[in-house]
Amino acid sequence: MAKFLIQSGKPLSGEVEVSGAKNAVLPLMAAAILPGEKCKIRDVPDLLDVGVMKDILTSFGGTVEWIGDGKLEIDMENLTCKEASYELVSRMRASILVMGPLLAREGYAKVYMPGGCTIGARPIDLHIKGFEALGAKVAAEDNYIEAYVPEGGLVGDSVYLDSPSVGATENIMMAAVLANGTTYIENAAEEPEIVDLANFLNRMGARIKGAGTDTIKIEGVKELHGTAHTVIPDRIETATFMLAAAITRGEILIKNVVPDHVKPITAKLKECGVTVELADEGLYVNAMDKKLVATDIKTLPYPGFPTDIQSPFMSFLATVEGASTVIETVFENRFMHVAELNRMGANIKTEGSKALVSGGKTLESARVVATDLRAGAALVLAALSAKGTTELSEIYHIERGYERFIEKFRSIGANILRTED
Ligand code: EPZ
Repeated sequence: MAKFLIQSGKPLSGEVEVSGAKNAVLPLMAAAILPGEKCKIRDVPDLLDVGVMKDILTSFGGTVEWIGDGKLEIDMENLTCKEASYELVSRMRASILVMGPLLAREGYAKVYMPGGCTIGARPIDLHIKGFEALGAKVAAEDNYIEAYVPEGGLVGDSVYLDSPSVGATENIMMAAVLANGTTYIENAAEEPEIVDLANFLNRMGARIKGAGTDTIKIEGVKELHGTAHTVIPDRIETATFMLAAAITRGEILIKNVVPDHVKPITAKLKECGVTVELADEGLYVNAMDKKLVATDIKTLPYPGFPTDIQSPFMSFLATVEGASTVIETVFENRFMHVAELNRMGANIKTEGSKALVSGGKTLESARVVATDLRAGAALVLAALSAKGTTELSEIYHIERGYERFIEKFRSIGANILRTED
């Protein structure tokens, strides 16, 4: 089993470049099913999850090829299968995103129930509600969901989401682009990844307005064509490096960022006393020789504080003098890193969706387990500020979502070794 050995020590410093966003590229790849012509996507991170989506599209009869550094060419003209197998879907929850494009283009889709990080129950009722509102007939069985479109095709309608689900917004948007008439998604997710997907679809010839607000209008079109697109930078990776500077009391220039996408993290780090400044080439974060203070955080849908950064931020709060409260409102099981952080000397107590962090602790090395992707990142950050050598297992979670993780951290002075034993 592969492990990371992480040695603590010095403040991290230097420059690092952020990759294309994992959570943007997965829906973009699914959307490439729609036109039946070649699409090119640039700045695609080379991640395990991208490999899973590539395998899914290939299993449908498509061709997906790397055509140079970070460039993926997807040709879904030849679509012979409309069923995503359990073997593939169980490896990644975002597989469900092929459902909307398959329904729109082929009028049929069968997808086994998605797997992925165990951070909560993660139902897909809102996806189904959206497909049904557009006229699809959906049968959700214990381990798969099957849907077909009656004769005449999907018909645009208003879909109100009970909560602004990112995946449901993406899936419904992709289902609606070829529907007859106009669809409105109300209480839609506003994440930058939604805007990126809408831009890609509009380049194909779709007519989508309002992405990035809580109401998205999609006027159905008759056909779409192939196009090229560059993925937005990964805001969660950006925030991870911001926290790497903060927790090691270092200074990092982070390149290829959209500063607006990390506003909540910038605001909270500044409250703690960390310097975050716009630089010519990116975002400069400095926590050297600062008197840092605690703060409270509450996760919310965008533009609120991202749930994906709750655990890395908590590692940092454990090291800052004072008490902090962390409230997780998006997923019900996203405190799995707490037990591991406490094994490293943190003092964190949880009460339901609330975690109380008594900060100011010098963390100690331990043998810890990455229970999910962001928990893994949180533990690496903790280990980089802890005394001694931390052994982190289940690192495949990290490799699912961070491109060239070790290489980038090493380039700013981290002492991390990947071992297989
Ligand atoms: C996306 O997941 C991201 N994944 C997640 O990133 C991220 O944590 C999450 O959005 C929230 O920002 C991708 O984009 C591939 P949701 P998604 O649907 O779309 C409930 C990471 O670490 N809900 O917005 O699955 C759900 O249970 C990951 O990179 C329903 O109730 O998230 C949750 O409580 C993990 N019914 C809330 O909504 C539904 O039908 C938000 O989930 C759908 C969701």
